Amino acid sequence: MILVTGGAGFIGANFVLDWLAAAGEPVVNLDKLTYAGNLGNLAPVEGDRRHVFVRGDIGDAALVEGLLVTHRPRAVVNFAAESHVDRSIHGPAAFIDTNVAGTFRLLESVRGYFGTLQGGERERFRFLHVSTDEVYGSLGPGDPAFSETTGYAPNSPYSASKAASDHLVRAWHHTYGLPTLTTNCSNNYGPRQFPEKLIPLMIVNALAGKPLPVYGDGAQVRDWLYVGDHCGAIRAVLERGRVGEVYNVGGNAEMRNLDVVNALCATLAQLRPGRDYAAQIAFVRDRPGHDRRYAIDATKIQRELGWAPAETFATGLERTVRWYLDNAQWLDNVQSGDYRRWIAEQYTEAAK
Ligand code: NAD
Ligand code: DAU
Repeated sequence: MILVTGGAGFIGANFVLDWLAAAGEPVVNLDKLTYAGNLGNLAPVEGDRRHVFVRGDIGDAALVEGLLVTHRPRAVVNFAAESHVDRSIHGPAAFIDTNVAGTFRLLESVRGYFGTLQGGERERFRFLHVSTDEVYGSLGPGDPAFSETTGYAPNSPYSASKAASDHLVRAWHHTYGLPTLTTNCSNNYGPRQFPEKLIPLMIVNALAGKPLPVYGDGAQVRDWLYVGDHCGAIRAVLERGRVGEVYNVGGNAEMRNLDVVNALCATLAQLRPGRDYAAQIAFVRDRPGHDRRYAIDATKIQRELGWAPAETFATGLERTVRWYLDNAQWLDNVQSGDYRRWIAEQYTEAAK
């Protein structure tokens, strides 16, 4: 079995569902259920005995060590993190607590467990750390895409905390011989993404007839990857990745934010006609320190592991919009009072 952390969040939940469907191997899922964690994301595996959900913190050494001893996983896949850049600007403390101190404590718990393994169990064991392309900083228009040897230059509290966690993982491999793997992935989108992130936020607002808040001039570039493709990449790295290595994962789909929002409006117009969604676009104050461009060079994972994304941005976007249209109840449930407070705070300021 494997231990997944953060498996009630967007990517973690998609990973757990994909894993159980593709590999069928049992999963222990440790998640703190912060505002971003949602058991509704795991509804399709409710009652499935291959999935054991545990509410808790990756930094709780007693809990994590107990889970490791009891379940003896052959791998740990670490998704747990605070993940939203805008929230990290408003309140960086939680990012340091979970992404830096939490990852450190998790590494220590796993190191202790790894020390007890012998023979084939020890040979096979892996710790896979899920990270982000944001650790590499911001690219100019003509710069080559980020490769695994690009220097770290994080610019936001979020990316700095993820960079710190990546360095810890590297050091735990180098110093203690922990068999680690790290993936640095570009922007994900797809079903079950919390509507604080660009694509689901725009879907929610478009359907509600509210403004579509584009930061600054909307010309920032992101490299978009459908979440199912990210899950496939993580499975490939876990099974065939070389221990101690880093793999960049990207969608080969660089797009300006404004083009993403317009493509989304066009997809919505096809699937839910009746409104001029693009007319709702509103330019608002830019994100402080906003990175201009991210792009991933995914040559290494393609060459070494034979991974490539299956979805194009057009096919992935249509699947995503259909999912949100078909899951109105899910969307309703996640827009709690807490969510509404965040949106009011963030976008009242940005509209000034
Ligand atoms: P998310 O915010 O949707 O989910 C994070 C999950 O982690 C939540 O379920 C939350 O409850 C849980 N969590 C938070 N703190 C925890 C703690 N201390 N202990 C246990 N669980 C905790 O995030 P996501 O978008 O699914 O991202 C997952 C991982 O992938 C993160 O590490 C993120 O940095 C990385 N990543 C995200 C993207 C993206 O585009 N979303 C791209 C590349 C990498
Ligand atoms: O690159 C990978 C990263 O992608 C992950 O590590 C992060 O966890 C994930 O949140 C994401 O970070 P971004 O900051 O790129 O994602 P976000 O969806 O917040 O924003 C995408 C772009 O859209 C960014 O340039 C900011 C812009 N934006 C975002 C929001 C929420 C807007 O213009 N308006 C908005 O309301």
